[in-house]
Amino acid sequence: MNEYDPGNGVVIVKIGGSVLTFKEKFFEPRTEIIAQLAQEIKNALPRLGGLILVHGGGSFGHPVAAHYLLQKGYASNAPAIALTEVEDAMRKLNGIVEEGLARVGLPVFTVQTSAVARARQGKLAEINTSFFSELLSLSLIPITYGSLIFDETLGYTIVSGDDISVKLAVGLGAKSLIFVSDVDGLYDRDPKIHPDAKLLRKVSLTRDHVIFGEVKDVTGGIRNKVENAGLAVSSGVAVRLINGLRRGNLYAALNGEDVGTEFIE
Ligand code: ATP
Ligand code: IPE
Repeated sequence: MNEYDPGNGVVIVKIGGSVLTFKEKFFEPRTEIIAQLAQEIKNALPRLGGLILVHGGGSFGHPVAAHYLLQKGYASNAPAIALTEVEDAMRKLNGIVEEGLARVGLPVFTVQTSAVARARQGKLAEINTSFFSELLSLSLIPITYGSLIFDETLGYTIVSGDDISVKLAVGLGAKSLIFVSDVDGLYDRDPKIHPDAKLLRKVSLTRDHVIFGEVKDVTGGIRNKVENAGLAVSSGVAVRLINGLRRGNLYAALNGEDVGTEFIE
């Protein structure tokens, strides 16, 4: 099959678990937000050259991984059932997200992460980008998620949706990558701890100094997101971080408007 020609360029959207779920309530999706985001994607879709969605774990994947002490994505003494349960939790959330998107008529198609990605030494090493291209060429919206993948050296590793979206963006030469989170953008320090934190509308990943709050999740939180974003920015992908809890933001960002924080070199 021919490689997909994106025309206007592929857009990759990573929707954080903090947007899709109530993080403090175990296995509780934000169904109204999912429906809202689905409608915004639907409205913006006609002008996009292709769209790939990646989602995080929120109160589905993270607590299960933490229960098995998979804090660094891997624990040599974790029982095999830990792998079953983490993937199962992620697929439950994926099913909810997929259904919410399909309900407004979006032709989404889930790609099970461990079937297309491999890790080495705890890091995402490869992802089958041509499979995503094939789905795009069928006018589908591929959707995948942070989860457990097999690792050539460690056995397995938990890979974040952030890492997957950056790898896809670089591998497919995406036009843009939009991180959807529960904050208005990147601040000079954690806005949830420092109410006087300043929102940065444009951040140079090589020059500006940003202070990150304590990382509580198993995949490295915002620090990992920002560090990885640099890889996409330096390969020519336009990258921004927006607040998905604010109505209209995702639609605006998909339309190329200046919302949230733009990351530059
Ligand atoms: P999840 O919240 O589920 O892990 P996500 O992808 O939506 O997934 P994070 O990667 O955790 O989001 O990043 C967003 C969080 O990072 C915010 O809720 C905020 O509290 C925290 N944070 C820490 N430091 C900063 C900072 N300097 N600027 C903005 N947010 C920050
Ligand atoms: C987490 O993916 C995957 C698992 C914990 C299994 P992410 O790291 O992308 O999730 P969020 O967006 O931070 O919730």
